[in-house]
Amino acid sequence: MPPAEPQPRPSPGSGMRTVAGGQARPAEDRQAAAPVSRFRVRPMQLEDVDRVGDIEPLCFPLPWPKETYRRDLTSGGVSHYLVCERLGERAEPPLVVGFGGYWLIQDECHISTIAVHPDYRGLGLGELLLASMIREGMAGGARSSTLEVRVSNTPAQSLYAKYEFRVVGRRRRYYRDNNEDALVMSVESLDSASYRARFQRLWTALMLRLGGDSRGGDARS
Ligand SMILES: CC(C)(COP(=O)(O)OP(=O)(O)OC[C@H]1O[C@@H](n2cnc3c(N)ncnc32)[C@H](O)[C@@H]1OP(=O)(O)O)[C@@H](O)C(=O)NCCC(=O)NCCS
Repeated sequence: MPPAEPQPRPSPGSGMRTVAGGQARPAEDRQAAAPVSRFRVRPMQLEDVDRVGDIEPLCFPLPWPKETYRRDLTSGGVSHYLVCERLGERAEPPLVVGFGGYWLIQDECHISTIAVHPDYRGLGLGELLLASMIREGMAGGARSSTLEVRVSNTPAQSLYAKYEFRVVGRRRRYYRDNNEDALVMSVESLDSASYRARFQRLWTALMLRLGGDSRGGDARS
């Protein structure tokens, strides 16, 4: 994922983002923010959009416009967004350093975007965002998760493989900037006891790595 508009990332303009009958959930029903010592994940707010829009072009050749986020955040549709923020020390305000998005449609959690500011990569924050989205998806009834990723994007593919996404297809010339193919990656059986147990092990290890508290990490909660 994701090509920028007008292509599907699925694209900001595509119908998928506003599919009727999707399972929109109010923010208060969503999982509690994942606390870690210096970073935390929480639902994206409108106030975050300018910063997210600044990070986009640092991460994607075809960035999404800020308006896409504003529209999705106010539409109450199937789109959900999280941000990862670095907690401020002393008087410093928290700083958004990454974000992720997913669509919860029926029993599928489609990861629509994920990015970490280049200065904050390699710290486990991309994993924190992905795991948080899967966790929310599972809590919302998702039984599978799917995404598209550039064939050349091996860091992202490794991240997804860690959470058992496997290549299930290929979309030819999916990305308009360079006509690169997308791999479709998917993980099934999110609701199985074995996946939940594996997820829980990964979550606990991640919390330890980030110096956080894994108690909130029961994937069944
Ligand atoms: C993909 C991305 C979100 C990863 O974020 P990150 O915070 O650097 O990743 P993490 O530190 O959490 O790493 C988690 C896992 O990702 C994989 N990974 C991350 N960087 C990697 C790299 N440079 N090479 C290979 N694997 C990598 C590893 O499996 C890693 O697990 P490990 O720590 O056990 O080795 C980040 O590189 C990014 O924002 N890229 C630009 C946007 C993008 O490509 N988004 C995905 C679109 S499909």
